Amino acid sequence: MNSSDLKMFAAFVSQRMEMSESEWFIKPESINNVFNPVSSLPAGSEKKTLYKKKEDIIYQNKPDSSLEPHTGKTVGNDSITAQNPLEELYEAVHGCTRCQLGLTRNKFVFGDGNPQADILFIGEAPGADEDKQGLPFVGRAGKLLTKMIEAIKLKREDVYIGNILKCRPPGNRDPKPEEIEKCEQILIRQIEIIKPEIICAIGRISGQTLLRTKSSLSSLRGKLHDYHGVKLIVIYHPAALLRNPGLKPAAWEDMKFLRREYDGMEL
Ligand code: URA
Repeated sequence: MNSSDLKMFAAFVSQRMEMSESEWFIKPESINNVFNPVSSLPAGSEKKTLYKKKEDIIYQNKPDSSLEPHTGKTVGNDSITAQNPLEELYEAVHGCTRCQLGLTRNKFVFGDGNPQADILFIGEAPGADEDKQGLPFVGRAGKLLTKMIEAIKLKREDVYIGNILKCRPPGNRDPKPEEIEKCEQILIRQIEIIKPEIICAIGRISGQTLLRTKSSLSSLRGKLHDYHGVKLIVIYHPAALLRNPGLKPAAWEDMKFLRREYDGMEL
């Protein structure tokens, strides 16, 4: 065992001492669904098992403008801290070392935005800026994503933004299947809590991961997909638009499609 293995093993043991693995998922009825591959869920059962209606979420206080990033925790009112399921999830998982990325990350990037958002954007993984700040999509690509959201007459604060992976892969390499398998369990729980009306997968890897497909980005874009009873669309990643600005007209079509599928607004 080399020193990196030892460090990982020590972190793993200390995490296991703090919590049992099943505590990650908080709702016992979700655990089986979380471990089942999406494709194995019985048809028609998805909404009942994975998603509750938004009205079922009980907040002592509705989230408002004085929210902490990541979790929507309301600042300055001690009486409500135990009631926010997104915060509980964050507390349970932000020290994660279930894969090697837990040892190389600077910050865990849980997600950020309105915990009751109708639209959930899901990117691939944090980059260098996100790893420094602990927030998703804050670098150049993130600034472009904010503009894309504003272009369809929404505000970034209205939506929730997360990633498939919560920790930065070194050198921004593609996520490995075993990293996705572990980390996606946190994302699934976030989706259960937020209960979005529509999921917007940002880029090929996010779309392919969520939809369990190897289809190309071009064949996934511009279509309405179903993710356990929730609408899902796939859009160009803003990083791709920065590399190739010629894709911007097609990306605008993606964003108009998102707005149309969300609430029917034509832009
Ligand atoms: N790219 C992503 O996919 N996610 C981020 O958070 C930042 C860049």
